[in-house]
Amino acid sequence: MKTTLAGRTALVTGASSGLGVAFARELARHGCALVLVARSEAPMQQLATELRTAGATVHVRPADLADPAARAMLAAGLAAEGIAVDVLVNNAGFGVFGAFADTDWTRLDAMLAVDVVALTHLTRLFVPGMRARGFGRVLQVASTGAFQPTPTYAAYAAAKSYVLEFSYALDAELRGSGVRCTVVSPGVTATQFLEVSGQRVTGYQRLTRMQAPDVARRGIDAMLAGRSGIVTGAFNALMAHSTRLMPRRVSARVAGWLMRN
Ligand SMILES: NC(=O)c1ccc[n+]([C@@H]2O[C@H](COP(=O)([O-])OP(=O)(O)OC[C@H]3O[C@@H](n4cnc5c(N)ncnc54)[C@H](OP(=O)(O)O)[C@@H]3O)[C@@H](O)[C@H]2O)c1
Repeated sequence: MKTTLAGRTALVTGASSGLGVAFARELARHGCALVLVARSEAPMQQLATELRTAGATVHVRPADLADPAARAMLAAGLAAEGIAVDVLVNNAGFGVFGAFADTDWTRLDAMLAVDVVALTHLTRLFVPGMRARGFGRVLQVASTGAFQPTPTYAAYAAAKSYVLEFSYALDAELRGSGVRCTVVSPGVTATQFLEVSGQRVTGYQRLTRMQAPDVARRGIDAMLAGRSGIVTGAFNALMAHSTRLMPRRVSARVAGWLMRN
């Protein structure tokens, strides 16, 4: 049976830009109240005004998710206000493009803190409450980069592999609890991602790029349909799953070639 979300509260991380904005709009369309989380407050306030005009209840909670104390304070603050999170969308994240040996450690460290540690910590903070209430949905944002080693995105792609494997395992653990975990793996999507990672768009990316609202809708639909995971877009799914048939060193070389700037 398809889940309905009307009246539920959804927390979306990375809600100041790109896919996070699209997830928030899609969840509001499904009747959710929203908690918007990212560092930049102004774009979230703007989104909140838009969603409130359409009838949604929206809370804006600026936070740097690389900071463990900020994550704990976010959860404690919501609990103190009596806001129970029914749907957690762990979307905040970024990549660091370039030869691994030349990339700046401070950026890599922050990337792992957000893409891996914050995602795991927020899941750990909110899933016990969902399980106790007998209902919850977690939507984790991985990437098609999760499916093969990716030179020039070596640590980012490996971080997204972690998200993919963690999410499938968690969903299996949670079976029968009323809580489910879905992992969505987008391919290249038109957002600030490439600008933030420091990569110029490649020909392959230009050809396969999808729009954020379409990707968000497919992710939410997969979550509502009770799927453990989805790769957005038929071509992206074909590319992601075909790597299973290749030796890793071959798929790494193909991925490196496709990402070349
Ligand atoms: N676009 C793609 O091609 C693509 C493909 C596959 C997967 N993804 C994944 O999709 C997710 C969303 O990225 P996007 O494409 O929408 O890129 P984006 O437009 O750059 O958005 C990234 C979001 O993450 C937030 N964020 C980054 N660091 C943060 C921190 N320390 N604390 C709190 N929030 C933080 C940013 O907000 P602030 O800067 O305001 O904090 C922003 O809202 C990421 O997990 C990304 O890896 C993207």
